[in-house]
Amino acid sequence: MTRPILISASILSADFARLGEEVRAVDAAGVDWIHVDVMDGHFVPNITLGPQTVRAIRPHTAKTLDVHLMISPVDRYLEAFAEAGADLMTVHAEAGPHLHRTIQAVKGLGKKAGLALNPATPVEAVDYVIDDLDVIMVMSVNPGFGGQSFIENQLRKIAALRARIDATGRDIGLEVDGGIGPQNIARAVSAGANILVAGTSTFKGGPDHYAANVAALREARG
Ligand code: DX5
Ligand code: ZN
Repeated sequence: MTRPILISASILSADFARLGEEVRAVDAAGVDWIHVDVMDGHFVPNITLGPQTVRAIRPHTAKTLDVHLMISPVDRYLEAFAEAGADLMTVHAEAGPHLHRTIQAVKGLGKKAGLALNPATPVEAVDYVIDDLDVIMVMSVNPGFGGQSFIENQLRKIAALRARIDATGRDIGLEVDGGIGPQNIARAVSAGANILVAGTSTFKGGPDHYAANVAALREARG
């Protein structure tokens, strides 16, 4: 089965002093989605940005804003990210005790809902919420920082989740986040991923290199 393969550029590796320009530049370079990493210094050991920044970048692209919420608690902030212009909001299975309620809240705001699984979280975490999901995201690094190495055993998790998604018969995206580059994108796609987050590998070298970086990812994906 052939499915479209999407590149979601993680702006964590962008120049934050020029975020609007950076978003326009990677949009023009041909990425499919813009991946926005929200970190709270509590769920993950780093702090990045909030709804105000999502609102600020929204006018700079018409592409999907793929908002990755690495925050706990998360429910009380969903409305603000929805109003700021998120298209997809991905929450972590590990971020709170009432995941089903959180996913219902995202859907209730009229947004696409994603579920992220940390590297040690088993695939079974999706079982009783899969019917409400638009995206399942495999964290192939521990969340918190860009530029980390891909954890190889997550390929098995991608394959297991692909089987679960196909069994539903629904068009649920399978996203992989962390350490993706031309060296491993084909293996992630063969395992069953169809949305590839790329931070370091999109932004490396600065704006003159974005088009070539994205082309290298597309060529290598096989
Ligand atoms: C990590 C973030 C990732 C990260 C990916 O917590 O969720 O989106 O920015 O960056 P690279 O592609 O550099 O691994
Ligand atoms: Zn991310």
